[in-house]
Amino acid sequence: MAISANILNGDSKEQLKLLPDNCVDLIVTSPPYADQRKNTYGGISHDKYVEWFLPISEQLLRVLKPTGTFILNIKEKVVDGERSTYVIELILEMRKQGWLWTEEFIWHKKNSYPGKWPNRFRDAWERLLQFNKNKSFSMYQDEVMVPIGDWANSRLKNLSETDKTRDNSRVGSGFGKNISNWLNRTKAYPTNVLHLATECSNKNHSAAFPEELPEWFIKLFTKENDVVLDPFMGSGTTVFVANRMNRNAIGIDIVPEYCEMVRNKLQPRLLEEKGNYEAGKPE
Ligand SMILES: C[S@@+](CC[C@H](N)C(=O)[O-])C[C@H]1O[C@@H](n2cnc3c(N)ncnc32)[C@H](O)[C@@H]1O
Repeated sequence: MAISANILNGDSKEQLKLLPDNCVDLIVTSPPYADQRKNTYGGISHDKYVEWFLPISEQLLRVLKPTGTFILNIKEKVVDGERSTYVIELILEMRKQGWLWTEEFIWHKKNSYPGKWPNRFRDAWERLLQFNKNKSFSMYQDEVMVPIGDWANSRLKNLSETDKTRDNSRVGSGFGKNISNWLNRTKAYPTNVLHLATECSNKNHSAAFPEELPEWFIKLFTKENDVVLDPFMGSGTTVFVANRMNRNAIGIDIVPEYCEMVRNKLQPRLLEEKGNYEAGKPE
């Protein structure tokens, strides 16, 4: 089956209306943060952010399949000495809209350089909020397993008797662990902290995220031929990575130059008529 990429230029609030219901498997995106980057593509004031985002998340809820996942990369900035609360407010409003807030991942920016501020330290992490329509969503955990690492050598060398049986939680939660289950394993499941370097150069965009970021979530939440959407596409990182991984991609951006740049970089075989995407034609 041919893999497609569709690049739509315009405000996501309107462009998303061109997509049919329940056609997307994964949304991975990084919208503009409040008040930031005003000079490049327009910022949204922090007290208007939720109001601005909700009509877009309403459309995202409509286009996402019931088994799909929405990963939202967002971080509140400091305003007048305090962290803004718009991300927290947004989560609460999105839950009212019908979203489930199922998980929060942390992107640790491992190449952050040190700095000096009077009352805080270098901000070296960002949130990746996971939202779903249902508690039962597609997830392919084995695709993101990591080498078990050195801890296993020392921890598994001298197993105690309790290590060899199920060690039930002392707080009576019903959860337990059997450490010996890890013997002879070379891979383990990762944590919800992603240690990735930031990436800004060579992309002609001031806020591009690293390719590993969409790649990790695409592996975890989709399979080949699925549809991945980025409604704030920027330099097209999500679109390119999705196509490379044999997933269909839909990218939307309000800035015509970004759309043109992404279209020009896409392999010609992936380009289809605007609006003629894998999941169906606009109404
Ligand atoms: C943080 S950047 C995304 C960067 C992207 N993840 C990348 O790797 O290049 C946010 C993008 O959202 C776009 N944007 C802002 N408001 C928009 C809107 N209402 N509809 C669609 N795109 C919008 C901006 O032009 C900008 O390119």
